[in-house]
Amino acid sequence: MPVVAVLGAQWGDEGKGRVVDLLATKAKMVIRAAGGSNAGHTVINPLGTFKLHLTPAGIFDANVVNIIGAGTVIDPAVLMKELQALREANVSLDKLYISDRAHVVMPYHVSLDALEEKDRGANEIGTTKRGIGPAYVDKASRMGIRMGDLLHEETLLSRLTSVLEYKGRVLNKMYSAQPSASLHDMYLQYLEFGRQLEAHIVPIHGMVQDALRRDIPILIEGNQGALLDVDYGTFPYVTSTATGSAGACQGAGIPPMRLNGVVGIYKAYTTRVGGGPFPTELTDDLGEHIRQAGQEFGTTTGRPRRVGWFDAVAARYAAEINGISSIALTKLDVLDDVETLKICIGYRWNDTELDSFPSSISVLSQVEPIYEEYPGWKTNTSDARTLDELPEAAQRYVRRLSQLVGVRLGMISVGPSREQMVALQEIF
Ligand code: GDP
Ligand code: IMO
Ligand code: MG
Repeated sequence: MPVVAVLGAQWGDEGKGRVVDLLATKAKMVIRAAGGSNAGHTVINPLGTFKLHLTPAGIFDANVVNIIGAGTVIDPAVLMKELQALREANVSLDKLYISDRAHVVMPYHVSLDALEEKDRGANEIGTTKRGIGPAYVDKASRMGIRMGDLLHEETLLSRLTSVLEYKGRVLNKMYSAQPSASLHDMYLQYLEFGRQLEAHIVPIHGMVQDALRRDIPILIEGNQGALLDVDYGTFPYVTSTATGSAGACQGAGIPPMRLNGVVGIYKAYTTRVGGGPFPTELTDDLGEHIRQAGQEFGTTTGRPRRVGWFDAVAARYAAEINGISSIALTKLDVLDDVETLKICIGYRWNDTELDSFPSSISVLSQVEPIYEEYPGWKTNTSDARTLDELPEAAQRYVRRLSQLVGVRLGMISVGPSREQMVALQEIF
């Protein structure tokens, strides 16, 4: 299967970093499709522990071409810091490329993200405040600055002159605020970012087409999760990108017909960071226990993640929307101590059972989950490497999840390190 997309299938943080790190050992190219430094992808492998915000998780194999794709928005200051940390860990950046079409997250995007959140008051989205929404607004309104522009003095100056004048007015009139730097200083700083990243900023098209022609294995690394998708997620409590398989193709520059498989990553339970409805949320001691056992604190912001039972209604919806062909189930070990597990198999609303995932967040916040109960296995699973080595109760639990989602299990992770994986199916 030469071209495979790896997607988060819940509300983010499902373990995309660790799955891509593992699969990249068999790939030749990894492309981060969309999003920006709102993402935090954790990788634990023989080289150390890494929290990647922008760099694709295939970066640890020096033979793999890693691309930050056209659909992304890049804060150069965050990227430079991340690249420096990778260099210090002796990770080669020779094959890291950045699409010249990717957009730049500017300081005014970060300011506006915070100011807009404050303005929303009780209805705040709970964004990561990394400037993501405002950067995508500027892309759609054709006011954005692209990574390629950083390499051309005149283009950068002319774009920045008009955009900064406009942003200055918005900041001033709407929020009584100012841009963080003058035109002159911002221009010089972003020109300098361009100089420092020059070797990496290239047209990606030829490289990807060549890989497609030669049928070499390509991974598209997704960002966020299916339920944070701007069209199909829990709008408006979503991110600003298409996080599914279609968005993955669009952001990576891969024709949809060339996609051979879609790995959907699901945690063995559910988490969510930020606001918005979450039908299976656990706000009791058990929720706290799972949060601690799974170390459920945001990779990017450090915020405690909200925790709940596996929601098979939402999970099946995510699989259907994105054509998920294989499940990567993560963090099964986190449930090792839980006495009785629940899986949500339906939603009750106004005395009726809903037959699909509702688009209205007011309905979703009122639904009553219908649960199936399963006995816990109360056994340490972190050393299991085959399905048979998992306790029977755990096998029953994972088989039922797969049946409810309607997709076969491809792998099950039982710990954060690269080798803590039960592989059930060849992905490449
Ligand atoms: P991503 O954004 O989808 O890449 O996921 P994050 O890195 O934000 O969050 C996943 C967290 O779970 C990270 O801290 C991982 O190290 C950790 N993790 C991933 N898989 C497992 C697993 O199977 N067991 C345990 N205990 N932790 C895991
Ligand atoms: P990874 O790739 C979890 C959430 C934020 C907020 C909403 C909008 O690591 O899975 P944004 O800053 O994008 O405008 O925030 O989306 N969010 C994530 N939640 N994992 C992520 O990324 C997320 N990226 C954004 O918490 O609710
Ligand atoms: Mg994350």
